[in-house]
Amino acid sequence: MEELERLVLRELLLSPGPVTCAELAGRLGSPEAAVVEAAGRLAARGYPVEVGGGALRLVPVDDLGEACARAPRLGTRLRFSVLHLQRCGSTQDVARALAERGAGEGLVVVAEEQERGRGRLGRAWHSGRGGIWATVLLRPPRLGPLSLATGVAVARALEVLGVEARLKWPNDVEVSGRKVCGILVEASAEGASLYALVGIGLNVNNEIPPELGGRAVSLREVLGRPVPRLPLLLQMLVELDRVYAELREPGSVLSEWRARSSTLGRVVRVETPEGVFEGVAEDVTEEGALLVRLAGGGLRVFHAGDVVHVR
Ligand code: BTN
Repeated sequence: MEELERLVLRELLLSPGPVTCAELAGRLGSPEAAVVEAAGRLAARGYPVEVGGGALRLVPVDDLGEACARAPRLGTRLRFSVLHLQRCGSTQDVARALAERGAGEGLVVVAEEQERGRGRLGRAWHSGRGGIWATVLLRPPRLGPLSLATGVAVARALEVLGVEARLKWPNDVEVSGRKVCGILVEASAEGASLYALVGIGLNVNNEIPPELGGRAVSLREVLGRPVPRLPLLLQMLVELDRVYAELREPGSVLSEWRARSSTLGRVVRVETPEGVFEGVAEDVTEEGALLVRLAGGGLRVFHAGDVVHVR
């Protein structure tokens, strides 16, 4: 996606109603014809953008079922094919069953509701209506950086909504210190076929259970209005595709993760089955591990665990 398309999409997502082409061109400092062309390209690629009568608008489509027809038009390298379900146990399990039957890279299973949504470390994941609960099937050469890369993709997609998100190790996407999105990467390496199920749970217009209130947040709460889910899902797929291609250039996704991180440089407490450790979060590795300088001076590598930002 070109920069001007991203900017036009952003402006339309932020505008409550239609915007005249002249006004948008003025805001973006671009010729009107270029803005109209960029909007036309977005529409051709499946974004619900309407161009007509000298104005542009984003049709506020919240129906994720529309992604089935629109995702294949996105022009991404990954060929996304969306399966939209009203309800399932977990999109991870549906995607796994399809992967075992040979489904191709780019399968996206998205559900309105999950009865047994799961998070990291065997936790339950609340998945009521209004969120985006999706699993993307990928067949990457290496699994290591995939989870950090997915966080980067989600943060980029949220930027288009004007939301500045930070990444908390291992892969929480946060807004003002509250979790807006969780990522769960499950891998299988049976026989020759390695595949990864990249689960993304994004709180959009769903209710946050009161017991999570202080720690989790929805985009509706952040922005003070309901957020149309279709363009957001499409944008996440576009960004996932882009970041997936960038994984071929070693280091580039990692440096973006570092720049977007809320964990690095902080004093952290890492809770693991082996114990609780405190120190300064110094860096992450290509494999997604966290390097923490402990009080005694030693550097410890964490591959899994929960992090609390102490200060
Ligand atoms: C976390 O613990 O932070 C990860 C949460 C991942 C939730 C998503 S929702 C879509 C997919 N299906 C699941 O059951 N889990 C992931």
